[in-house]
Amino acid sequence: MTIHGKAALLEAPGAPAVVRDITIDAPGPNEVRVQIVASGVCHTDLTVKNLNGNGMAFPIVLGHEGAGYIDAVGEGVTHLAVGDPVVLAYRAPCEQCPACRRGDPRRCYVALRPGQRIRRADDNALCSQVLRCGTFATHTVVHAKAAIKMPSEMPLDRACLLACGVITGVGAALNTTPVLRGSRVAVIGCGGVGLSVVQGAVLAGASEIIAIDVNPTKLRWAKDFGATHLVNAREVDPVAEVRRITEDGYDGGVEYSFEATGIPLCTEQAIKMLAYGGTATTIGFPAQDDAVTLNLGDMATGVYWNKAGLRVCHCGDTLPSNDFPILADLYLKGQLKLDEMVTRRIGLDDVEAAFHEMETGDVIRSVIVF
Ligand SMILES: NC(=O)c1ccc[n+]([C@@H]2O[C@H](COP(=O)([O-])OP(=O)(O)OC[C@H]3O[C@@H](n4cnc5c(N)ncnc54)[C@H](O)[C@@H]3O)[C@@H](O)[C@H]2O)c1
Ligand SMILES: [Zn+2]
Ligand SMILES: [Zn+2]
Repeated sequence: MTIHGKAALLEAPGAPAVVRDITIDAPGPNEVRVQIVASGVCHTDLTVKNLNGNGMAFPIVLGHEGAGYIDAVGEGVTHLAVGDPVVLAYRAPCEQCPACRRGDPRRCYVALRPGQRIRRADDNALCSQVLRCGTFATHTVVHAKAAIKMPSEMPLDRACLLACGVITGVGAALNTTPVLRGSRVAVIGCGGVGLSVVQGAVLAGASEIIAIDVNPTKLRWAKDFGATHLVNAREVDPVAEVRRITEDGYDGGVEYSFEATGIPLCTEQAIKMLAYGGTATTIGFPAQDDAVTLNLGDMATGVYWNKAGLRVCHCGDTLPSNDFPILADLYLKGQLKLDEMVTRRIGLDDVEAAFHEMETGDVIRSVIVF
């Protein structure tokens, strides 16, 4: 049965997000319809807006960090039932690509997607969904394997953060580039993703966690999340400062650096602050023309002589069906901070204000609560 709801839509390049009436069709085979309870506002939603939809067809339902209750199940869905609490995964492995076929679903090339089931009520236009989710909406439809069941005691207005920011950051440090116990870590950018990298580095047993940001409030929060050193990149050169903090008779540097800003210069910095043989991981979402310049051959700092590695993190290389319940369990045991990540609870009408806060204010995550 088709139902009625509301969603925050991007309707045209350059236009602000607007709340519109939508209709949501019944889920197709192997799909589920979800009544959204809460959705985090991730920087990637703002990036999709700033990049004029980033190639997606308008209208676009924003949002990809959602949690809610199963509202209807499609044909063939046996592992979920109406009323189950779930977190939505935007990278549920496709089971068919070369990575999935070789038994490495964390490196899946694509992700399972639902059919288009959401329409703008005004004109029946079919909507795209950011990252196959579209969670700034009262209801959405996702592939059934992208809905991951949560324990009943898990609060959904915090569980939603697992879907992107938390799994991306924690997964960067545990899956993409597993941090070795006792190693030195630097994190550039302490928003929702970067603070989650800090948490991942704590879980991995890093000895030093150097948090870098341009906002003093973010740095204070980073300390609460487990950073051992704080660097304000507006006041000092972060590369020199990281080398100074880690000075060990070999020019210092960290074994692992993580970029979580989306700024190309920060990826360059991440590579330049590595100790010999270290690995930088870039997480931020680039624009099409973004590029970095790397020297290979300088004897002191060149990538070749420093034997520097670079990895790219997509959603923490997650296997959601495995990882989301583990993260929920860590939260329920007090070993993963989620309460502290929710800076503001907002309504669906406040998406544009949340974007503005993200760029200017002191906010880790704004969470839309329905
Ligand atoms: N690869 C993925 O799977 C994935 C997943 C989620 C988000 N992202 C991307 O990761 C990035 C971070 O996302 P977020 O939601 O945490 O964003 P955010 O806006 O909450 O955080 C970004 C942080 O970077 C800081 N910053 C800005 N300029 C800086 C500089 N020059 N040096 C150091 N810090 C600086 C800001 O003060 C802010 O604290 C975005 O580009 C987002 O699109 C990627
Ligand atoms: Zn995200
Ligand atoms: Zn795959």
